[in-house]
Amino acid sequence: MSEILILGATGKTGRRLVRRLQAAGEKVRPASRSSQVRFDWNDPGTWDETSRGAHAVYLVAPDSPGPVHEFVARAADVRKYVVLSGRGADKLDADFSRSMLDAEEAARNSGAEWTVLRPNNFNQNFDEFVWRDGVMAGLLQLPLGKTPEPFVDVEDIAEVAAEVLTGDGHAGRTYELSGPRGVTFEEAVAIIGRASGRAIRYEEVTPEAYRKQLAAEGWGPEDADGVLAMFAYMSGGHVAEPADGVRQVLGREATSFEEYARRVWS
Ligand SMILES: NC(=O)c1ccc[n+]([C@@H]2O[C@H](COP(=O)([O-])OP(=O)(O)OC[C@H]3O[C@@H](n4cnc5c(N)ncnc54)[C@H](OP(=O)(O)O)[C@@H]3O)[C@@H](O)[C@H]2O)c1
Repeated sequence: MSEILILGATGKTGRRLVRRLQAAGEKVRPASRSSQVRFDWNDPGTWDETSRGAHAVYLVAPDSPGPVHEFVARAADVRKYVVLSGRGADKLDADFSRSMLDAEEAARNSGAEWTVLRPNNFNQNFDEFVWRDGVMAGLLQLPLGKTPEPFVDVEDIAEVAAEVLTGDGHAGRTYELSGPRGVTFEEAVAIIGRASGRAIRYEEVTPEAYRKQLAAEGWGPEDADGVLAMFAYMSGGHVAEPADGVRQVLGREATSFEEYARRVWS
């Protein structure tokens, strides 16, 4: 029986996807720099062994464009790619979006079946990633105004990815994944506050103040540029409308921000 290769297997989406596929009895090969199957985008020597005998791949893009094309060209056994991209990846001028778009293109040109997942910002950015420190400190300061964001739950992304990797009818599709409604950041911290019993405030800051904050948290200048470019794009309202990819694939509504907050913060 051949295996499903999960890249980024220790990450927010990858580790949930591994868990779901294993629970469904699928044979899974989790890979990343710190996984038992060691895979490093910066070390092509790790690529061939990782993909050998894998018929399907969950592809989390590297940080910069380039290596995915060579990886795909060498991965001879792979018949299906499911690429994790991002909503607006084709419009945003930032390294991380160029890299996601590059991974989409590599999969589309691979000759294998491909499906692209383009999610909005994750709910889990509030408890596992970039906004956690602010929430824990009771003050989230961002340059985002009142534009709503239909945050998507990473559990939904993992469920969609599992369905697409193991089911039929998704070849050549690009699914935009979001939550069921747009939530402003002010509302998001209020919802988390109610669920957790913590006092949390949202405060609008200038992009320059946020750049300083990111630098203090250890973000490099180019990554900070990328985040600010994304925020400027979001503020324009371009990805503020909910998308229906979760319903298209799973036949149910996406998880609401309130459900996420109850599950994770209460
Ligand atoms: N956060 C959001 O709101 C959001 C929204 C839309 C799209 N996205 C996209 O989602 C992707 C990130 O996915 P995620 O959140 O599931 O992952 P994540 O939590 O950011 O974790 C990154 C994963 O990639 C692995 N990794 C890092 N550097 C690597 C390298 N050089 N070679 C091989 N593996 C490497 C890490 O494991 P090791 O450290 O063990 O290697 C880890 O498993 C990014 O492309 C991001 O742009 C994120």
